[in-house]
Order: sequence, then C-alpha cells, then structure tokens
Amino acid sequence: MCGIVGYIGGKEKKELVLNALGELEYRGYDSAGIAVMKEGRIDAFKATGKLKNLQEKTKNFTSEGDGIAIGHTRWATHGKPTEINAHPHFGQHSYIVHNGIIENYREIKEMLTSKGVTFLSQTDTEVVVYLFEHNLQTSKSAFEAFEKTVLSLRGAYAILLITTIAPNSIFFAKNAAPLIIGKNDEKELFFGSSDAPLIGHAKEVCYLEDGQYGVLSKNEILLFADKKKVSSIFRDLPQDKSYAQKEGFRFFMEKEIYEQSRVLGETLMGRIKNNEIVLEELDEYLFDGINSIKICACGTSYHAGLAAGYIFERLAKIRTDVVIASEFRYKEPLLTPDTLFIVISQSGETADTLEALKIAKNAGLKTLAICNVDNSSIVRLADNTILTRAGIEKGVASTKAFATQVATLWLLSIFMAQKRNSVGKERLKSEIDTLLRIPSSLNVDNATHEKLRRLSKRYLHGHGFFFIGRDIFYPLALEGALKLKEISYLHAEGYPAGEMKHGPIALVDSKLFTVALLPKTMLYDKTKNNIEELSARDATILVISPEQFELADDFIKTKNSSHVMNEFFEMMIILQLLALEIAVRLGNDVDMPRNLAKSVTVE
Ligand code: M6R
Repeated sequence: MCGIVGYIGGKEKKELVLNALGELEYRGYDSAGIAVMKEGRIDAFKATGKLKNLQEKTKNFTSEGDGIAIGHTRWATHGKPTEINAHPHFGQHSYIVHNGIIENYREIKEMLTSKGVTFLSQTDTEVVVYLFEHNLQTSKSAFEAFEKTVLSLRGAYAILLITTIAPNSIFFAKNAAPLIIGKNDEKELFFGSSDAPLIGHAKEVCYLEDGQYGVLSKNEILLFADKKKVSSIFRDLPQDKSYAQKEGFRFFMEKEIYEQSRVLGETLMGRIKNNEIVLEELDEYLFDGINSIKICACGTSYHAGLAAGYIFERLAKIRTDVVIASEFRYKEPLLTPDTLFIVISQSGETADTLEALKIAKNAGLKTLAICNVDNSSIVRLADNTILTRAGIEKGVASTKAFATQVATLWLLSIFMAQKRNSVGKERLKSEIDTLLRIPSSLNVDNATHEKLRRLSKRYLHGHGFFFIGRDIFYPLALEGALKLKEISYLHAEGYPAGEMKHGPIALVDSKLFTVALLPKTMLYDKTKNNIEELSARDATILVISPEQFELADDFIKTKNSSHVMNEFFEMMIILQLLALEIAVRLGNDVDMPRNLAKSVTVE
C-alpha cells in the first residue's frame, strides 16, 4: 500500500528519500516519485514500476546542502498505475504526496473545475494541491491556506505538501492513515508512514493523531488540531534493523517461515507463570459482564479469528462470532454491551478493521486488539491490546504473523478458561504444557521442505486447488489456499471437507488438485471419508497426515499428533512451504506479489 517519506536537513536528499522509500517497498506499490526543494526551487521525478526505475531517472540529479524532500510509493486506488497518476502531484507552486482516499474529491474537483482548473491525473490526491493553491488566493499565509484545505477534506489521509510560497517547510496532515515525525540530535527532521524508513535516522518519533496537522521547518514543529495548537509528544525509536536482512534465505517469506519457532517463543515470553497464563497488559475487569465475543479482521487475520472461534467456544465456553471487517461495517450490526469486541491485525493499520473497531467503540463495547505493531492506529484506538510479537514481517504473504496470532488467541482462550472456570484443572494444565512446547515443534523439518520442493513441480498446471479440512483445520485450509493464491496466482479455494459433496465435488477430475488436511486428533474418520469421496472421482490428492493414506497421490507425513494444536501448527508450516515452492517454480516475486500491499489502508 502507499508509503510516504519526508526529510528536512543537509544530507543528499535524493539518496536519503529513495533509500527511505526502499524500506517501504515490502508493502507493495506500483509507482513512485520524489520532490526535492532547495533554494526555493522544486525538482520532481516519477516512475512507474519498481524503485530502480526512479533511481535510473534521477541518476544525474544531486541534492546536497540544506533543503527538503518528500517521497511516495503509490498503490493505485483512483486511476491506473501510470506515471501521471504517480505522486507527487503538483499545482503551480506546490507538490503533494498522499496516502489514503479523499472521499469528497469529486465535489472539490467540480468546484475547482468551475473555476478553470484543469486536472492532469485521475487521482483524488491532485484536487488537494489545487485546493491549497486556490485557498492561497484568499489566505494571509501558506499555513492558513493549508489549514483551510485540510479542514475541508473528508476521508483518510496522510499528506505532505511543499510549496515555493513557503520554502523550507513541509506542511502535513493526518487522518485515519498513519504518519510519524522523526527527529535526531543533528537537527534533521523526518516523516514516515511507518517506523521502518525512520530507523537508523531518527532518534525519537511522534506518532500523529487523527485530525492533527501542522508545519515542519528546520527550527520548528508546529502541530494543530481543530485550529488549536497542540504539543507534540516524542518517544525513543528502537533501532533494530536486523529484520531487513534475508540471512541467507531466498526470500523474506522463507526466512519468516523458518523464524516461526523463535518468534512464537517471544509471543509466550513472560505470559506463562507457575502453570498459569498471565496477561498483565489486560485491564483487570475486561471480562466482567462479558457473555459473548465478536472477532473482526481481514485476510489472514480473519483466518486466525476463525480458528480462535473454535478454541474460544471449546475452552472458554464463550459464544464467539467471527466477521470479516469489510462486511461488518455496513451490516448495521447489533452490538450489545455484554460483547467483547476483538480485532486482529498484523499491521494495525488495515482500514476496514480500524473502522470496525471505531463502530464497536462508539457503541460502547469493550475492545481488545490482537496486533503485531505497537503504536499502530488499531493499538492506539483499542482499550486493550495483546501484542503478538512476531517482529517486522516483510513478506506480503503473512506467515509468522498468522502463527503468532493463533498462538496469542489460544493463550487468550486459556486465560479466559482460567477466569471462567470453564474447563477442569487437568485440561488447563495439558493446554498450557502443549502451548509451552509449540515453539520447538515449529522448527522446519529440512527433509519435509525438500520433499515439498520436489513435489511442487507436479502442481503447476491443473485447473485449480481445493484445500480441505474440518473443524479448526477448515480455517487452516482457507489460509493454505490464500497463501497459494497470493504468491502463485493459481486459483485455490479453502473448503470444509464435509461440504465438498454439497456442490464443489462437481468440479472434481484428475486435473483438480486437492490438498487434504487429515489430522489424527480431529474428526479423522469423517475427514478420511470425505477424501475417499474425492479419490473415487479421480481428483489428484495431496494428503497431509500423521497416518499413511493409501489413496493419496502424494503424501506428507506429519510427526506430532499429541494435541490438535501441534497438528495445526505442523500442517500450517507445510502449507506455507508448499505455496512458497510452487510460486518459486513459477518464477514469481514471492515477497512482493502482484497487486498486493502489505498494509491495506484503504477500504
Ligand atoms: O495487517 P492485517 O493483518 O490487518 O492485514 C489483513 C490482510 O490484509 C492480510 O492478512 C492479507 O490477507 C495478507 N496479504 C495475507 O497474507
């Protein structure tokens, strides 16, 4: 999704801003651009495709000495990914970069068009720079014009604007899209739409709040909300950049699959004491008066939520609904105060999930975020948060984030079971013992990986995949299918194994690939029957199970079937590696799949 960076200082600005954009590449984008102002002159460059195209375009341009710069990676929402639609957009004197969507851009565009403005692009962003220049005509200062502009916008935005009318300043605004200011001891100032481009440059950061706007110049940070000056609160920025290296793996996604054992250890760290789950981050009274749970999330996080639905009802004995956030928003949901509203998000910036959280908060519900990114918009808005501690995930296709989400939700379900006395002591102890052993069972087995690598060549040319499973293995099947779709671009569907006979079985022939999850600990015989029904109709079947299955065309043997969650996590790794190896054989960009963005900040 779009990324924003900005800089005020004396370094080579082009290099600095291009490198900063490089840190945001993993989020996905289809064009990029920069604008640099020095001694009252602005030079701007844009290019479609990857950043190397922009680097090539700017190779003869230098920008040493004091000045300012802004940069952007665009993920197309309004208008195709062309150079004209790439940011920065410009008026007569000013350049702007923007993340988000301006909802009232059509009204503004009509008003400006009636005043004779001609637009070059199809974007919503271009109207903002022209509106600013229009407001300049009736304002005493550039700041007044910017303030008027911002206050007339509706929608989501993180904006940086520079203008020759007020050289040496960057005007900024934030609403429902993240924007961070950074500073250091050398009096350099930075902007970023996430921490990543600021690490190694800024020492302290200020996470702007919705509705804040202002102007930054070398000596001053002026911050406003609703026409009133507010103070900026800076905090130290951790400087750990180790996530940026692939450490010998071919792709970040591969590295992140292998990291899961370690990061799950982090997820559990300090949260199990004396055979009890301890979640000190939660409000002591969070569960008082709570009789049901509603979980809202998107994509992979939604699959983690679906898995949690099974665990919560089974262990904590609490009614749980799981809803896709983009559906929840407009269904006029009935919300009662005895419901705990849980949102799950890797990035903490997903617009649909964030909006769902706002609806729940406005309805007076208690809220809890399960999130990987501290200080993200979702974390700041929720009453309570449990951080999943996966570390920065660079692969667009989520892997370790999913594993830590499921582990965190399992942890939470045991915690609720403790509070509600919903299961006996022995059951609790066995859950906690298994949970403690999960990190070691998540080590990737090299022989299995190698087998999947070889096997993947047989799964490149069919007419589609069905991933099937029952119970908690159904959300895992959905997740396996999503992983494959995202990075291989092959059609894949996740389906409840028992539901195939109600329709999809009509598709079955030898070119239909079925990946069947056949755990020992959960509905083994029922699932086996469902697989046999497909085998009888000549489907090509890859079975993943601890028990040999004669009718399988291909078979991956799992090792640990002592608990349903051991089986879940072991199969999860196999599905992730299968998707990876198929995508690698197809020659795809595994870390940055086409059309996808790491953090989806538009609705
Ligand atoms: O950051 P979030 O967890 O809120 O993101 C939700 C989805 O956009 C995300 O899980 C998406 O489905 C991933 N590409 C999955 O690999």
